[in-house]
Amino acid sequence: MPEQVSESPIEMSVKQKDAGAERVTINVKVNGKTHTHEIEVRTLLVDFIRETLGLTGTHIGCDTSYCGACTVLLDGKAVKSCTVFAVHADGAAIRTVEGLVHNGELNALQKAFADNHGLQCGYCTPGFLMAATELLESHAAPSEAEILKGIAGNTCRCTGYQNIFKSIRAAADTTRQGQ
Ligand code: FES
Ligand code: FES
Repeated sequence: MPEQVSESPIEMSVKQKDAGAERVTINVKVNGKTHTHEIEVRTLLVDFIRETLGLTGTHIGCDTSYCGACTVLLDGKAVKSCTVFAVHADGAAIRTVEGLVHNGELNALQKAFADNHGLQCGYCTPGFLMAATELLESHAAPSEAEILKGIAGNTCRCTGYQNIFKSIRAAADTTRQGQ
């Protein structure tokens, strides 16, 4: 009979980690709707949004806090949701790209991206839209420097950025004219 092989340190460590996969209940308001869910404490906000809530408009591009595809608004501030634990959003209000549509119609910023060719493959677009939403909500008439700073944390491999810049400028103009 073969000798009983004891568990390797790696196996033991995995077991200990699983035993420590503590679960907590969080309440968040997402796009105006309250959600209560029990999650593992280590759940990232982006995974909570995409997998628990099924809101897959928030993208994962790099998972290393570089690309900004996962940007959402957390209590009005743009954050990279791959860098935030979902438990840190407990009690907070989150807005995702799905929340930009109003009465079934694209909002001014989304229309401006479409009209000004602010996207090609569109993978980065939800992140840019959310970063630009924060910018336009705090600066009705952003300067060139303010727009560049507002989207500095987002990357696009397709557009070359000029049309993204143009789209945000156009949305600011349209929104101001409508006021
Ligand atoms: Fe979060 Fe790239 S997926 S920054
Ligand atoms: Fe393709 Fe930005 S439009 S990555």
